Parts: sequence; C-alpha cells; structure tokens
Amino acid sequence: MAGRRGSSLTGAAARRAQNPYKKPDQYTKAAKSAGFPARSVFKLEEIDKRCRLLRQGQRVLDLGAAPGSWSLYAIQKIGPHGHLVAIDLDPLTVSLGPNATALQGDAFDVANDVYVDNGPFDVVLSDMAPRTSGMREADQARSYELVLRALDIARVHGSPGSSFVAKIFMGPDFDKARAAIRETYAEVRTIRPETVRKNSIEVFLVGLKKR
Ligand SMILES: C[S@@+](CC[C@H](N)C(=O)[O-])C[C@H]1O[C@@H](n2cnc3c(N)ncnc32)[C@H](O)[C@@H]1O
Repeated sequence: MAGRRGSSLTGAAARRAQNPYKKPDQYTKAAKSAGFPARSVFKLEEIDKRCRLLRQGQRVLDLGAAPGSWSLYAIQKIGPHGHLVAIDLDPLTVSLGPNATALQGDAFDVANDVYVDNGPFDVVLSDMAPRTSGMREADQARSYELVLRALDIARVHGSPGSSFVAKIFMGPDFDKARAAIRETYAEVRTIRPETVRKNSIEVFLVGLKKR
C-alpha cells in the first residue's frame, strides 16, 4: 500500500496516492488543457449555465480567486467592457488581462475602498474555503463564516438585481446560511455541480435578484 514501508511510492507520489484531491482526474486534465489552472472551472461553468449569471459588460467580484480558474472563466464571459476584481490570500497563478484587478489579501481585511472604487458588482462570487483541519465541525463553522463575510460584502456592494454565489461545506449552519441569503435575494438555489468530488461536502448557494 502507498506510503507503507516497502512501498515503491516515495515523496510526492506517495502523498498524491494518499490524498485523492491531489490526483489529477479527467476534469483536472481537461481544465489544464483548456488553459485553466484548476478543475473548479467546471463548477462555475455549470452554475453559470443553470442560473445564467455572467454576461458581457458586467462588474464581477471573485473572492477566494486563487489559483484563478473562476476569474479566467468570468473574464471571458464579461468581455472587454466588463471588470473583475479577484481577491485571495494567495497570489493567482494566471494573468487576467487589463480589465481585472487582482489583490492578494484576506477578505476580512481588504479595505472598503477596493469595493467602492470597483463596484457596484453585478455578480459576487465566493469559492472561499478554509484550509481543512480534519476536524469536520470546525471546518464547517469556518466555511459558514466565509459565506457570511462574502454575503456582507455582497449586501453592501452588489447592485440591485445582482447575483451571489458562495461555496459552503454542508453542515449544521447550512440552513442559517441559506436563510441569510434569502433575506437579501429574491431567489436562492442550492447547487451541487456534477464535478464536485463524490466524497466532498461542498455545495454552492446561489442568490438571484438582489433586492
Ligand atoms: C477552492 S480555492 C478557490 C479556487 C478558485 N475559485 C479557482 O477557481 O481557481 C479556495 C480559496 O479560498 C481562499 N481563501 C480562504 N480564506 C480566504 C480569505 N479569508 N480571504 C481570501 N481568500 C480566502 C484560499 O486561499 C483558496 O485559494
């Protein structure tokens, strides 16, 4: 077995074998060959197709944007007259072009001016996820906090009629998160894209038609 004494796998190969998330599957390979750094692009593509979120000329905020698949997808959809702001703790690994602003920072700390100067936003995306600790309840609670932070930003800086997408780890706070989004958006949908890995607890909450 991988990682056991006597295994032929060592180092990175052994770590990949132990962690299914590190193993490139068909979607990872398809994303890379299409020029996207991560397979997550297919999740946004499905959400976009189902909810008709992204259009030419829109202003988009992408929270938790690194390595950059969602931002690259969104920038292609909004075209040269749109504008995208991408924020993450980590730097993006892709270049987004002239109609994007990429900032390295914490969504809890980014100065309000960034949103004021670049908004109001037609779409606020949050694929933010905590670094998983292995303690399921703690990870779920942190994921819920990230959703609430994204929602706070969207409430203030989303334009009337705008949309909101946030990843959440399914758990005890899910209903509260959904209800909080429903207070601000006329419609709320829960989507688990087909490309979410079978053992993952992530789902996406989509708010449509901001009041
Ligand atoms: C699943 S990845 C996002 C993938 C990205 N949507 C893409 O398509 O390339 C989750 C990201 O959330 C970021 N993140 C977590 N907490 C954050 C915070 N407080 N502020 C900003 N980014 C955060 C992580 O650094 C990580 O890059």
